[in-house]
Order: sequence, then structure tokens, then C-alpha cells
Amino acid sequence: MIIAPLKKQIKRVTQPVVRKLKPAPNIPLKPASSNWGVDRGTPVSRFYIDRFMNAHRDDITGTVLEIKNPRYANSLGSALKRVDILDIDTNNRHANIFTDLATADCLPSNTYDCFMINETLQFVYDLQSAVRHAHRSLRPGGILLVTVPCTAQHDSELKDVEFWRFTRTSCERLFGDVFGQEMIEVETYGNFASCVTGLTGMAVEENDPAMYDNVSPIYVQGVCVRAQKKREIH
Ligand SMILES: C[S@@+](CC[C@H](N)C(=O)[O-])C[C@H]1O[C@@H](n2cnc3c(N)ncnc32)[C@H](O)[C@@H]1O
Repeated sequence: MIIAPLKKQIKRVTQPVVRKLKPAPNIPLKPASSNWGVDRGTPVSRFYIDRFMNAHRDDITGTVLEIKNPRYANSLGSALKRVDILDIDTNNRHANIFTDLATADCLPSNTYDCFMINETLQFVYDLQSAVRHAHRSLRPGGILLVTVPCTAQHDSELKDVEFWRFTRTSCERLFGDVFGQEMIEVETYGNFASCVTGLTGMAVEENDPAMYDNVSPIYVQGVCVRAQKKREIH
């Protein structure tokens, strides 16, 4: 025999519940820009990426390698001896090394003082292989600076080869396994408001700068990694 309160409960959950859904107020159905806000000002993610790269500008020195163009080598580098530019895209006129990072056997070993891989690893399917090649290309003591997206729109041109989004945990494992955990520093950037602003396509300049200060552990916009190749390999 079913006792009365339980009977009432069963009746409640077995009844189909039909609720009318109304569009949520204040949530735009279209972004202000579907180009990260480049057309409106500084994209929110780029604000944080620039800040990370600027904080590590002293690493950008000597013989350096960068992806696509010499954006950070030119703006932040010092005492540069050589700047190589890598791209998979053979139409890139800035590049002098054309390869897939995952199969980059053509990259010289033990060469670079600094390798900058910004906003690129999401397009590389075999991440472990790419990180091994990056590590191999660094001279002992050389630095790898990486930024990767976590909460971000897809690249409209490269969306068909966009494989991944990243977390602090996946980056700690990915880079720690190759460089050694003690050789890596991983930080995240962003908070709920910056993630929403970034997805909406509003530019940094359209909001109060204080909005970007707080770093949330659960609303992560992107991840930044600094990894150093060990000087002596035992
Ligand atoms: C969004 S751009 C980022 C570049 C830039 N350094 C920055 O600061 O954002 C990504 C670049 O990665 C290149 N790319 C995509 N897949 C790649 C791969 N598997 N190996 C090497 N480069 C790749 C693209 O052609 C493009 O030039």
C-alpha cells in the first residue's frame, strides 16, 4: 500500500509539466561583433593576452620564433638576434617556416631562446606532439610563452580546423608532462563579466576597466602558460 504523501509525490512527477518559455530579458540574440570585437576596439581576450605577454617581455630576446607574424617580437622583444615566423598557411608572406606544429620535424632543435605560440594550439589536433616539437626547438633554458582560449567564439575562417578549448588542468598536464611540472607556470584570465563581454563581441574600451581585474576560477576566458626547458637533461 502506498502511503498518502508518497502517492501525492508520484502523481506530481508523473504529470507532464509544460512551461511556457519566454525569451530571457537583456540577453542579446546576436553579438555586437562576431569578430571578437576587433571592429569596435580591443577584443577582451587580446587585452589579457597582451597583458600576459607584456609581463613576460624580458623572455622575448635573442633568437625567437613566433606564429603568423612578429606581433610580440616587434612590440615587446629586446636584443633580438633573429626572428623566425612559423605558419601552416603557405600563403603567409610573413612566415619563413611552413609546417604543421604537430609534425614539425623541420624545426631546428635546441635553437630558440623564446617560442611564442599565441591563440594557435586550438587548431592543432595532436597537441602532445606539438608541445614536444616546441620543447625540442628551444635551447636549454629557453622559454615557451603560450596563450589558448577557454571561453571564446570560433574563428569564422578556421572553424573547420578548430579542435580544442583549454583549462588550467589540461594545460598543467599538457605542458607539465613535457617540460616537467616544476618548469611551468599556468595562469587563467577572465571572469563572468569578461567572458560574456567577449562572447558578445564588445570591446574592452566599451566597459569599465575595473571589470577585468577579478580572476574567476570557474568562468575562465583563456589560459596562459610560461614553460622553461631544463638546462640539463639527466
Ligand atoms: C589566430 S592565428 C594566431 C596568431 C598570432 N600569433 C596571435 O597573436 O594571435 C593562428 C595561426 O595559426 C596557424 N595554424 C593553424 N593551424 C596550425 C598548425 N597545425 N600548425 C601551425 N600553424 C597553424 C594559422 O594559419 C594562423 O596563422
